Amino acid sequence: MIVAIPKEILPGENRVAAIPATVRELVKTGMEVIIEAGAGEKSFFSDDSYKEAGATIEKDAKSLYAKADMVLKVNHPIYNDTLKMHEAEMLKDGSAFVSLIQSTREKEVVEKLIKKKITGFSMHLIPRTTLAQKMDALSSQSNIAGYKAVLIGAAHLGKYMPLLMTAAGTIPPAKVLILGAGVAGLQAIATAKRLGAQVEAFDVRPVVKEQVESLGAKFVEVVSDSDEGIGEGGYAKETSDEYKQKQQALIKEHIAKSDIVITTALIPGRPAPLLIPKDMVEGMKPGSVIIDLAAENGGNCELTKAGEIVNHNAVLIDGRLNLPGTMPIHASQLYAKNITSFVTYMCPEGKLNLDMEDEIISGAMFTHNGEIVNEMTKEALKSVSA
Ligand code: NAI
Repeated sequence: MIVAIPKEILPGENRVAAIPATVRELVKTGMEVIIEAGAGEKSFFSDDSYKEAGATIEKDAKSLYAKADMVLKVNHPIYNDTLKMHEAEMLKDGSAFVSLIQSTREKEVVEKLIKKKITGFSMHLIPRTTLAQKMDALSSQSNIAGYKAVLIGAAHLGKYMPLLMTAAGTIPPAKVLILGAGVAGLQAIATAKRLGAQVEAFDVRPVVKEQVESLGAKFVEVVSDSDEGIGEGGYAKETSDEYKQKQQALIKEHIAKSDIVITTALIPGRPAPLLIPKDMVEGMKPGSVIIDLAAENGGNCELTKAGEIVNHNAVLIDGRLNLPGTMPIHASQLYAKNITSFVTYMCPEGKLNLDMEDEIISGAMFTHNGEIVNEMTKEALKSVSA
């Protein structure tokens, strides 16, 4: 089986889906690995290091795609301006494709994959079971986003993060509020604590209270009689209007005192919940900062503009995208390990073995034999047909 790793062409993307160590793992199972020339450059892995690991280097993206039985990527396929061709159209008919594609959002790409009878897998859809932990790219990349968000917030701030007692006076610690305490939020709490800030966190899932407190942060709690925010598989779900009102009042009170607010709230398959309307931003102190990690999914703040930094009455709202891509060495190392664990699990003898009874394989698959095979994707893209 020929596995190919193209160079990522999305602007600002520095990650790559394989590193020399993971190439070795793939080769060991009997696969032939082809890497596009320069694919690892922005993550600081040279073509020579891939060659030493057993890969072949291919200069031409089109012939790389044409040869591949399986393509491994970070981003979903996009139009290649230089080659004047969509990456999805370069895939060999009937081949397999694995990436971090959000299959519920990429209607046009899913349509193209269906036409070419591609077996498409999304790292987003891998079930979060114990067995699949080493394949959990959402966690490995969210961890980086949470860490980097705090560093960016601290760099924006005209203040120290820690408490300082100096001859010129005492500096109180910065106040950091984290909205959404999933993987990114918990890493943001830990990072802000390491920098010496005073940290508070809020989440609709009360079960995270213990995790937040174990990291030394205070849990801001909405008092409710029901299991409001707890959805399937440990994820969040939409809350009632009454809960939302209570939550808004509470967040408003805490946000007004915060120097940095990091928002990470997401609900799978839905737009990000709006947690910070404009009037709340207007109640914040001048010089304070919001880092909206949900920007790609619509943002948790009303004023967030995806990919931009907005200054509203001296409050910065940073909606930059793809924070994992700004830390490419570790982001690629971890992602490559996640995707390789998935591929070697699926192809233990170096050949594609589609065990449809396997919940990891069937869970991650969204297109097969010209059809959408994932329910959430089917629901979101109802009008797509072969
Ligand atoms: P996510 O990225 O889907 O959402 C981030 C956080 O936002 C979640 O904690 C969610 O509860 C919260 N949120 C949603 N709506 C909100 C609102 N209106 N207000 C405030 N917060 C809101 O979540 P992530 O980081 O992917 O983690 C989801 C769950 O999966 C967690 O329970 C996590 O511990 C669990 N998990 C399990 C793994 C495993 O068992 N292998 C691995 C990784 C995560």
